[in-house]
Amino acid sequence: MRPVEMCSHTSLLLFVILNVVLVNSSKYQNQRSPRKFPVGFRFGTATAAYQVEGAWNEDGKTESIWDYLTHTNSSAIRDGSNGDIAADSYHLYKRDVEMMRELGLDYYRFSLSWPRILPTAFPDKINEAGVKYYNNLIDEMLKYNIEPIVTIYHWDLPQKLQKMGGWSNPYIIDWYSDFARVCFKLFGHKVKKWITINEPAQICDFGYGRDLLAPMLQIPGVADYLCARNLLLAHAKAYHIYDKEFRPKQNGAIFITLSAQFYSYEFGKYKEAALEANDFNWAIYSYPIFSKTGDFPPSMKKRVARKSAEQGFFRSRLPELNPEEIAFIKGTSDYFGLNHYFSFYVYRNDSVNGMFETPSTDDDLGVATYFGEGWQIGESNATMFVPKGFYYLLTKIRNDYNNPPVLVTENGFATRGGLRDDDRVTYYRYYISAMLDAIAEGSDIRAYTAWSMMDNFEWAAGYTERFGLYEVDFSSPNRTRTPRKSAFIYKQIVRTRELDWDYEPESYVMTIDKGH
Ligand code: BGC
Repeated sequence: MRPVEMCSHTSLLLFVILNVVLVNSSKYQNQRSPRKFPVGFRFGTATAAYQVEGAWNEDGKTESIWDYLTHTNSSAIRDGSNGDIAADSYHLYKRDVEMMRELGLDYYRFSLSWPRILPTAFPDKINEAGVKYYNNLIDEMLKYNIEPIVTIYHWDLPQKLQKMGGWSNPYIIDWYSDFARVCFKLFGHKVKKWITINEPAQICDFGYGRDLLAPMLQIPGVADYLCARNLLLAHAKAYHIYDKEFRPKQNGAIFITLSAQFYSYEFGKYKEAALEANDFNWAIYSYPIFSKTGDFPPSMKKRVARKSAEQGFFRSRLPELNPEEIAFIKGTSDYFGLNHYFSFYVYRNDSVNGMFETPSTDDDLGVATYFGEGWQIGESNATMFVPKGFYYLLTKIRNDYNNPPVLVTENGFATRGGLRDDDRVTYYRYYISAMLDAIAEGSDIRAYTAWSMMDNFEWAAGYTERFGLYEVDFSSPNRTRTPRKSAFIYKQIVRTRELDWDYEPESYVMTIDKGH
């Protein structure tokens, strides 16, 4: 998701006018009667290795960019914390699987730590203890018929590779796809859904262009674009390896997960700006993979080339993909993996000129963003409440890319803690309802994943933002997990395959239903 710090603000009047427009039009229904899910629809929850595992240097694991960042620059993290222990899932995985059973999940999405499996970062040495941990987790899940959906890369790059440029070095295409091949070999007989990479935009934009995520390079308008090119090719290479060498025997699916917040073009005047904001922020990854033509979005190619020339560069800062590369990337995702949290309003006028550093993606795009009135519910401003934006986004994906099968791989809401999380309950109900509206109009959405199953290390926000259906007590040595109200509401949705707006838990005692 995209943090609030990125948002600039305009007048209250504009807020009100625009909010009325976003809330009142179109076929977004927000229907209040109980709503059924299509037959076969699947439900899960998600986490990621660095955010929950802990055991940062145990059993042969080496340093990732997040270990390095948190240990060398703790002021980069809001509460100065780190993921050294996190939710301690490395030791508590059986309790994690018990929570999956309590919730009655169809699947659980988690990620593999590259430096835990390959301590040298390369395939010359495989860390058996790390492999054993993932086998234990997967086997425990399979025992209860819970499908593992495995993300190969969720941001914890081996620090050694970062020293060599990380995602800005084109050799990452080999380094990453070698790691992916090792994962297919080790776990492919048990894992039937692979996510190559989680949220490229956050990796490249926040990590290479800005200082919001490790490695916090802050080389905007250059390193972020190099990262984007290399990442797309690395993803595509892993896809082709799986497709040719493993799929015939292992019969699974492989796809990428993109983070897409919706930039609203409801307000006519800024339609072009909003379309281009969607292009720059997420279609930079979806267009090369899902469009008929492939390649970066035309609006991006044009704007970055023009700006680069004006600035005296000899070529566009957005690297060119040659025809073979375009063909290599196109079509390399069996599903559209989608992470979504909230939306933005945009504007583009004279006041935006000179607003951003040059060069930068923000300056290349030349669009300012802000939130509508009433979009913040609860104490935290890390996520906004804009369910209709989710509907619009899903509709746009259906229209732009010929209705690809979508798996919602993350959606969720931040609080500052507490077990009676009514704001989160409201958020989930409205967002799920917005998704059902898109499904009713023909969007091929097959699964929904709540982020997150439990509280965890929320990157640069440390433990200050809580996303869990289960609260984790980070001050207890046992990292005690306690279900929040939202856990009971989600469980009811999963159990009944129905969204009931009025359901209230009879008690707050969690049990495992028969058959789980
Ligand atoms: C990421 C998660 C993160 C969540 C909430 C997504 O961008 O994939 O790792 O915790 O959003 O911010």
